[in-house]
Amino acid sequence: MRLDIITCLPELFEGPMNQSIVKRSIEKGLVSIHIHNLRDYSTDKHKRVDDYAFGGGAGMVLSIEPIDTCISKLKEDSDYDEIIYLTPDGDKLDQSMANGLSLKKNIILLCGHYKGVDQRVRDHLVTKEISIGDYVLSGGELAAMVLADSLIRLIPGVLNDESSALSDSFQDNLLAPPVYTRPADYKGLKVPDILISGHEAKVAEWRNEQALERTKKRRPDLLD
Ligand code: ADE
Repeated sequence: MRLDIITCLPELFEGPMNQSIVKRSIEKGLVSIHIHNLRDYSTDKHKRVDDYAFGGGAGMVLSIEPIDTCISKLKEDSDYDEIIYLTPDGDKLDQSMANGLSLKKNIILLCGHYKGVDQRVRDHLVTKEISIGDYVLSGGELAAMVLADSLIRLIPGVLNDESSALSDSFQDNLLAPPVYTRPADYKGLKVPDILISGHEAKVAEWRNEQALERTKKRRPDLLD
């Protein structure tokens, strides 16, 4: 998968996109991430990428021109399956959306800032709008990282133990069951006997029951 991320704050991506699973996926050649500073596509002498809203009102709006120039440049070299704008009024990200997007090859993520982007970008340049939840962040950068992370870990070969993505919470609309590790008895706090019984089928059955119990208790909406 190739991810092109368009942002006014490229420095924000330096840490999170260079650690752990994302880093490993890049090293394995399964993912490449390209960060583009929107200011590099501005024709303004001060490299401005935003302007006042027509009609007045507080807050600056990202202009269409640098975004269009950047996207057009990227399209010269690759075909994109999706051009995604991160915005609190987009479709809410969930595991099934992440599953679908993890199968795509080339994706552009556009991070908004300030008061948003010129509506013509949303109407004509973007193919999908995604929100990571019903709250407002200062910009789309953190949302883009959340989305990127949720997709990347689903790409076959990214996780060492591929079955572990399948047993995540929300796959099959169930929360994940509890997990334990050594010691089996910590100051009298014991691991359930079934998990050290060595009986694989019974362990699987126990995990299913626990997942269902937990989902019923914490997220009954997932079972509807
Ligand atoms: N930008 C600001 N808030 C956001 C959110 N909740 N989801 C996606 N992008 C955003």
